[in-house]
Amino acid sequence: MGPQFSVHTREILEAARNEYPEPRSLLILALKLAEEEFGHLSNEVLSHVASELEIPESVVAGVATFYHNLHTQPRGKHVISVCRTLSCDLAGGREVSERFIELLGIDFGETTQDGLITLQSAECLACCGTAPAVQVDFDYFESFRPQQCEEVVEALRQGRRPPGGSGVPGGWPDGQEGAE
Ligand code: FES
Repeated sequence: MGPQFSVHTREILEAARNEYPEPRSLLILALKLAEEEFGHLSNEVLSHVASELEIPESVVAGVATFYHNLHTQPRGKHVISVCRTLSCDLAGGREVSERFIELLGIDFGETTQDGLITLQSAECLACCGTAPAVQVDFDYFESFRPQQCEEVVEALRQGRRPPGGSGVPGGWPDGQEGAE
């Protein structure tokens, strides 16, 4: 038997059905829930979503492959996203990218062999004024320098949260809230 939604996920979908009776309106939610539950959106998972919502698999696959925030390939435990939009690229994002690629031995869109880190390029992370920007899981790093790449990778390899990030673009680095 292929992947099947858990009872909990089905309950969330059922509750949403009451508010969004048109099945296609539920598609993004169903795909996000599926990704949470199964790790990534494999072909089998996409088939399951299509059958649950009773919409064509081609529609489900089209949406799953269109949105940057939906993932059809397995991802690492941690995700490093380097902004490659113009402001960041001109401010040093290219050098940051090259350093991460060198340190990790993988290219954008790839995951380290141990499954720990996925490296990806990102569109504008909303920190253009403090470019270049990098996101590590849910933390944002602004005015990021290539010299910081090693510290980030080391922290992740040691199971630590990399220092210096903040939970929102433009936020204070952790531990510095309210600092002068
Ligand atoms: S261009 Fe990189 S954060 Fe906007």
